[in-house]
Amino acid sequence: MPNIFSRQPKPKQKDAIPSGFDWSHAKTALSLAASVGKAAGISHLEGAAEIAIKIIEIVETMKRNKEECISIARDITDLLDVIKDIMERGRNVKQNEILMKNVQKLESDLGIIKTKLVKISNRKTKFHVTSDAEIIKECKGKIRDYMEIFNTKASVNIWQNTGEILKGQEDLKEAMAHIAKTHDQSNITYDDLERITPTASPVFFGREELVAEGVDHLVNNSQAFLAILGAGGIGKTSIALHINNAPQVKTKYGKASYFLPCEVLPDAKLLLQGLIQRLGIEVGQGESQHKKLEDYFRFNTQSILLILDNFETPWNHDPLGIENILGKLASFVQSSMIVTMRGLNGPGPVEWKTLGLEDSIPPLTPESASEVFSAISGKQELKKTGDSIQAILKNLDYVPLAITLIA
Ligand SMILES: Nc1ncnc2c1ncn2[C@@H]1O[C@H](COP(=O)(O)OP(=O)(O)OP(=O)(O)O)[C@@H](O)[C@H]1O
Ligand SMILES: [Mg+2]
Repeated sequence: MPNIFSRQPKPKQKDAIPSGFDWSHAKTALSLAASVGKAAGISHLEGAAEIAIKIIEIVETMKRNKEECISIARDITDLLDVIKDIMERGRNVKQNEILMKNVQKLESDLGIIKTKLVKISNRKTKFHVTSDAEIIKECKGKIRDYMEIFNTKASVNIWQNTGEILKGQEDLKEAMAHIAKTHDQSNITYDDLERITPTASPVFFGREELVAEGVDHLVNNSQAFLAILGAGGIGKTSIALHINNAPQVKTKYGKASYFLPCEVLPDAKLLLQGLIQRLGIEVGQGESQHKKLEDYFRFNTQSILLILDNFETPWNHDPLGIENILGKLASFVQSSMIVTMRGLNGPGPVEWKTLGLEDSIPPLTPESASEVFSAISGKQELKKTGDSIQAILKNLDYVPLAITLIA
């Protein structure tokens, strides 16, 4: 992977000092980064660049530790130059939460580095030589980490792509909900549901305990209500699908487990319509769908598992209607449900067991995140670029969707 921090040496100007650091060029480059931040409305880039200029000024006046600190100043200048390029070249960069979060973190870390360098430059004695060397090393390490993060991502344009794909996924969900809402209710067909029903991906790491906990709850309660809650892309649907595939769950529910992609069923009417289609209930002209659903459960003795995926869509659009239908479903003794939902609480009047210790799904562990990355991208790559990949995975907060996109 090309390293975009290794640039062609710039011609020396008159205020360049023997160390090769060009103070005037650095300040100009940083002012430019601040202007780009300002023009793009990215206040954390503007802030970071302004702090960086102050750092340069502090280093310029330093008597002791000057050479080491110049190398920090040089790295900071290069780093902000690269971030400026990313902002200039990228489309929709502001919508890339991960990128914005990193720039924000950088601004705050530069503030800390500045404070530390001020302290060092104000020392009157040599008494602190050892601790100063450690502080400088730490600052250097921190900036190097950021260089790894921005360099690797920028050179493969991941920053822009991830943001666009993540945004694209959101747009798609919204669009699907919108289409469904403006659709004639009778147009939600079995095939519509089937087309967007996902299957469990074979690449699945680090969720053994959560899956076991869910399976245990489903098979050891005659009627089980399981809520899988958490942030977008954390892996809720994947966990639900793997729970559903567990042999014990298959034994209990047989073929009677039904997946409803609720992002296309944004209100009670459509949810009912989806259920009717999924369960294969025949409703004749003029007949009541509610009545047919009730009859279905009245005459069926088999345990039924309903997987209500992306339930935040109907729940946020039509809470009253959905509460009513959920209450009804829960009242049928043979029905069990799994909901996956972005949020902190299970929906409606049902007593949900929420999966996980914190009532929401945690991110992957660093080890599982690495496994996901190497399974998708190939082990060789991880070996070669192990450290920078680790830094990226950490930066992605070990969220499976983000890791999958990057890999
Ligand atoms: N444990 C895992 N190991 C590997 N890949 C995973 C894991 N969990 C999720 N993924 C992948 O991450 C992506 C997002 O996962 P998933 O759709 O399950 O998230 P979600 O929480 O349901 O998201 P949303 O809130 O958008 O519905 C999918 O491509 C999935 O295959
Ligand atoms: Mg999901």
